[in-house]
Amino acid sequence: MESANCGCVCHYGSRNLANKLSQRPRVHERRRPGSADGISGVGLHGGPITPNSLNGGEAPFPEFHDVYIKRENLLYYQHHGTFPDGTVLVKELVLAQKGKYPDGSLDSASGRGYFPSELHGIDVMVKDSKRFANTNKWGFFTFGHQAPPYSPIAKAMSAAQCASCHIAGVAKTDMVWVQYYPLLRAKLQ
Ligand code: HEC
Repeated sequence: MESANCGCVCHYGSRNLANKLSQRPRVHERRRPGSADGISGVGLHGGPITPNSLNGGEAPFPEFHDVYIKRENLLYYQHHGTFPDGTVLVKELVLAQKGKYPDGSLDSASGRGYFPSELHGIDVMVKDSKRFANTNKWGFFTFGHQAPPYSPIAKAMSAAQCASCHIAGVAKTDMVWVQYYPLLRAKLQ
């Protein structure tokens, strides 16, 4: 994220973001170079899945949603119940492996279910109360819903495209679906 205050264009790139973020310990140490979790100081805090097989073959955001946040912003939310300006949430989409069952699931040593295969897109939310006052303090960006390489820049999306659904569903928890992220609700130190 080159700047969250640069007019309507938001720049994203793992290397740029890595240079800007602190070297604090990560919540999880799992890292994949070139993807969202290759960023220092950022931890994976949740991974909902909405497989195509359960959404008529066309989920709006298919498959796993790996969500990342800077550790200090996660801790801030735990203490204050809101996110500070400058918070960035990165949601990386990860396709599910195709299994032999009609619902797309497959067998693994851990049981039958859905398992990640390939990276498939990045969506980003940036909190800036002044710049994004019209969309409840958050700007929404998408860097593509396809395999990498992702677009290096993105324009802020309209309220109808993104924010309206978050406002309808989770305005009370600062626009984030906190109910799906146990780490946001835990008391970590
Ligand atoms: C129809 C409703 C809907 C729309 C439209 C929508 N989202 Fe979301 N978004 C969700 C839900 C529900 C979650 C959490 C569960 C999940 O990921 O499946 C979520 C999660 C997120 C997250 C992870 C942080 C969080 O709040 O949980 C980001 C980042 C995000 N969305 C960005 C976007 C962007 C960018 C757009 C527009 C391109 C967008 N969303 C449009 C419903 C929506």
